[in-house]
Amino acid sequence: MEQFIAGLPKVELHLHIEGSLEPELMFELAQRNGVKIPFCNPEEVRSAYNFSNLQSFLDIYYQGAQVLITARDFYDLTWAYMLRCKVDNVLHAELFFDPQTHTDRGISFDTVMEGLTQALVQAEQRLGITSELILCFLRHLDEASAFETLQQAKPWKHAIVAVGLDSAEIGHPPEKFARVFAAAAEQGYLSVAHAGEEGPASNIVDALDILKVSRIDHGVRCVDDPQLLARLIEQQIHLTVCPLSNTKLKVFSSMEQHNIIELLRQGISVGVNSDDPAYFGGYMNDNFAAVACAFQVNRLELATFTANAIDASFCSMARKDELHQQLQTYVDSQ
Ligand code: HPA
Ligand code: ZN
Repeated sequence: MEQFIAGLPKVELHLHIEGSLEPELMFELAQRNGVKIPFCNPEEVRSAYNFSNLQSFLDIYYQGAQVLITARDFYDLTWAYMLRCKVDNVLHAELFFDPQTHTDRGISFDTVMEGLTQALVQAEQRLGITSELILCFLRHLDEASAFETLQQAKPWKHAIVAVGLDSAEIGHPPEKFARVFAAAAEQGYLSVAHAGEEGPASNIVDALDILKVSRIDHGVRCVDDPQLLARLIEQQIHLTVCPLSNTKLKVFSSMEQHNIIELLRQGISVGVNSDDPAYFGGYMNDNFAAVACAFQVNRLELATFTANAIDASFCSMARKDELHQQLQTYVDSQ
């Protein structure tokens, strides 16, 4: 199965680019930029990655991002992730980025975008990997800050396909950002939101009804609401599920307790994603392998994760057709 997973074409729809910052690069950038970090070496950083919940991760994740200063830093970060996509046979990736994590430290929105876009253009040219960018608002910050961020994005509209919502879910429900998402929709952005990760199923309903999102990030708490489950199936609303993230952040006590296969077999459009791979111990292949190891899954089910992600992606119809074709060719060859 490991070999089948390695060769399987993949599409990643839930990846925070700041969460792909490996400790080695963190050290390199800290040194390059003269930023002090409270660790002596990459191993020490890794041993600090023991999380009890989402907030305990977020504290360390925001701290790690402080080494990112110049456009070159954002380029290096993104290029490293795209190279990793190549290794894991990810053909298309939709990347979240958290501008407020950087603009709040005096790094300009333009600096972030220059680095990210340079790497993504290069990845398409040299690696043949297509991508999209999704601007995430930090939900622990206020509405005014989100509006300011949306304003800063204006000159980069052509390079950003959608807006998203991440950070601490509990205490920061979707309705807090109703007006920002309405403004973003008016400007032509698509939207997604983290919902039902640590928060209740009602956050998923509200993300759909109030924020009008196209898909839900995580969404695993949907099982608590039978009516919502029926709606997700009927409307084929996609959930970008992140298995290793969910076990590391104790959303599920073990992979065997995860509901991804149960959701898949009920007919919900779910996919496999890595979320913050540098922090959760695995990229796409590792996430697929963890699921395959914990459950009796067949090859067709693993391929369905990719097919679902292709359908739910924000790329062009022509690109979707190409991706489906590549997936079919692979499955037929096995
Ligand atoms: N949930 C919420 N916010 C995040 C996550 C997540 O899984 N990863 C990075 N920011
Ligand atoms: Zn996430």
